[in-house]
Amino acid sequence: MERLTIDTQPIEGQKPGTSGLRKKTKVFMQPHYLENFVQSIWEGIGGVEGKTLVLGGDGRYFSDRAAQVILRMAAASGAAKVIVGQGALLSTPAASNLIRKQGTDGGIILSASHNPGGPDEDFGVKFNNPNGGPAPEEVTNRIFEATKTIRKYHILEAQDLDLAAPGSHDLGGMTVEVVDPVADYAELMEELFDFDAIRAMISGGFRLCFDAMHAVTGPYAKEILERRLGAAEGSVMNAVPQPDFAGGHPDPNPVWAKELMEVMHGADAPDFGAASDGDGDRNMIMGPGMYVAPSDSLAVLAANAEAAPAYKGGIKGVARSMPTSRAVDIVAERQGLDSFETPTGWKFFGNLLDDGRVRLCGEESAGTGSDHVREKDGLWAVLLWLNILAKSGKGVVELMQDHWRTYGRNFYSRHDFEGIETERANALMDDLRVKLADLPGTTVSGRAVEAADEFSYTDPVDGSVATAQGIRIYLDGGARIVLRLSGTGTTGATLRVYLEDRSEDPATFDTDVQDALKDVSAAAHEIAGIEHHTGRTEPDVRA
Ligand code: G6P
Ligand code: ZN
Repeated sequence: MERLTIDTQPIEGQKPGTSGLRKKTKVFMQPHYLENFVQSIWEGIGGVEGKTLVLGGDGRYFSDRAAQVILRMAAASGAAKVIVGQGALLSTPAASNLIRKQGTDGGIILSASHNPGGPDEDFGVKFNNPNGGPAPEEVTNRIFEATKTIRKYHILEAQDLDLAAPGSHDLGGMTVEVVDPVADYAELMEELFDFDAIRAMISGGFRLCFDAMHAVTGPYAKEILERRLGAAEGSVMNAVPQPDFAGGHPDPNPVWAKELMEVMHGADAPDFGAASDGDGDRNMIMGPGMYVAPSDSLAVLAANAEAAPAYKGGIKGVARSMPTSRAVDIVAERQGLDSFETPTGWKFFGNLLDDGRVRLCGEESAGTGSDHVREKDGLWAVLLWLNILAKSGKGVVELMQDHWRTYGRNFYSRHDFEGIETERANALMDDLRVKLADLPGTTVSGRAVEAADEFSYTDPVDGSVATAQGIRIYLDGGARIVLRLSGTGTTGATLRVYLEDRSEDPATFDTDVQDALKDVSAAAHEIAGIEHHTGRTEPDVRA
């Protein structure tokens, strides 16, 4: 096997975003594109020589090719070992678990999460640190710097390895260990949760439906929900991972998880419904006829986590991303938990989890997780819900209504305006920034503005500062508007407008969420000049 050194040139735009480098698959398939980025990862982590890495992903189109290239490049740069999920598959939380469990020097995850896959869709590469979490900005900055100066990369000239079956291979002196992607993860879940209680609930007639959306969680959900917990065969639908997710958009929300919505709104709806995204870190929770907003889910999990053996001793603190509703803050306040508000992006939870300041965290973007790994974890959230239901004997709808009666309800919705020209989106944010100081004391769409600022975050553990993390506008009555631009898109800009209003009056709890947020939405449009800047009056997605 020959070690080749290939001359290359820096390629523009290889800056990792909220969650690694995400581009159109065809961009990744251009000559040297993947190779430049991978060599820059080695550079950014101080070299890969002698190191052990984990490698896997959501199985999207081009993953199989990319995995072979990464293995050859790791071998050519002297890595000691790479642990690969069979078929190059590993859900993001399972990869995080493997990195931690095997004590590796990190790992590479091939995924564009909830974005569609295929030759005309999206691909992504992300490096995770030895703690199992997404590389912090300091590392991604070094990787980005390396992409700007790269002149050569190293790769082994070798045949493809057979990743289809578990086993050990030698690749130019580097060990490649192909492992069952599900086993270690399933074992971890059994340690965290009361499987006996869940099994008893299911055998007592509790029915569930899990939509894997043709993505990576299929094999995990089949093993855990059907085989280990006894859910009826077929409870997991769309369970075979496909490179293009069967043409779907593997994003578990009411818009894209249409099949699950139909089942859960149907006449014979099961007791519990859930879905996960492309790489298995997001979750969506439903009861019969009811969609549970991710921010509410986080609050319910925080309030009831002690039902699960892993959290019996308490969760100490909770963290949420800034745009996530403040429902969980109320739980924290009442239960004497510490609470933290971080910028969007799971990586910002890493230090808080590592430092033991919080055990539970979550985001409005359908991510919830805990200190068991350093990624958000879709199936974990499903199992914690099931554990709570099993212990409480309540259904999803009842649990949710009890929660609102106890803590009040934070009506919440995110409105996305997609595919806006980047310049126009930036202009909207710039104009807003200028206006911020003058907003408090004014009344907009009948609501008084109490405060407004641009969020910046100082990490309490390492003191690092993240600025310009979104605009917060606080209105009377506990309402809030947040505006920010998405950091995960691959084309143009997406404006995200997060709307929240609060009520403690049970008579209002059944109000339609969009109706409840009408005036807050009107205020957002007026303050930000959304139509003026984007030409849009209606969002593309109401999540
Ligand atoms: C990914 C990240 C999350 C983040 C989400 C939305 O899933 O892992 O942490 O909340 O993207 O990010 P965006 O920048 O598109 O709002
Ligand atoms: Zn994801």
